[in-house]
Amino acid sequence: MIRPMRESDFDAVWAIFHAVVATGDSYVFAADTPRDSAVAYFFGPGITARVAERDGVVVGMYKLIPNRIDRGSHVANASFMVAPSAAGRGVGRELGEDCLREARRAGFEAMQFNFVVSTNTAAVSLWQKLGFVIVGTLPRVFRHARLGLVDAYVMHRSLDDISVDRSGDAGSPSGTRP
Ligand SMILES: CC(C)(COP(=O)(O)OP(=O)(O)OC[C@H]1O[C@@H](n2cnc3c(N)ncnc32)[C@H](O)[C@@H]1OP(=O)(O)O)[C@@H](O)C(=O)NCCC(=O)NCCS
Repeated sequence: MIRPMRESDFDAVWAIFHAVVATGDSYVFAADTPRDSAVAYFFGPGITARVAERDGVVVGMYKLIPNRIDRGSHVANASFMVAPSAAGRGVGRELGEDCLREARRAGFEAMQFNFVVSTNTAAVSLWQKLGFVIVGTLPRVFRHARLGLVDAYVMHRSLDDISVDRSGDAGSPSGTRP
């Protein structure tokens, strides 16, 4: 189940954020990023923040924002984190599909990820399965905790194929299943 993030989720959000950034293999945040910064990254004015629950426990979250202001604001940007303990069980895909629908519902025309670490095979694979393509490679821009300097990808997807029905409910992203 995916639902809007609320303040009572902040402990879980913080725990997931901390566990993810501590790995040093997917986000630029330092392992000792404080709780307030973590919460502010995901929750605040202008951010659509939603969480995934399994058996009533928050196991992942995403934020959806405009990628740029004003003349770039028709393109969405999003960030995702799944608790390492819940990885590989479909949470990331559920969050990703929900995010595409929410973005379409909000009127965005496309979604762009600006910084997908090239060695993050789980993320790259998931985004490709959800219809994103690599449109650029930024050389040696990420200091991976184990691998040293590695590339990051810019990934992009049009939202044209994501339908929103008349009830305001968005349909399933088409073409996202292999
Ligand atoms: C990347 C991330 C969101 C994926 O979430 P997840 O819940 O583990 O992924 P899922 O179980 O939903 O798997 C989604 C798909 O990716 C594939 N996948 C997952 N892990 C994979 C891996 N290590 N290697 C290759 N493919 C993988 C699965 O096969 C699955 O495909 P399917 O839906 O067709 O069966 C999650 O691992 C995470 O939060 N990682 C740390 C933070 C991060 O990297 N965020 C994204 C930054 S761009």
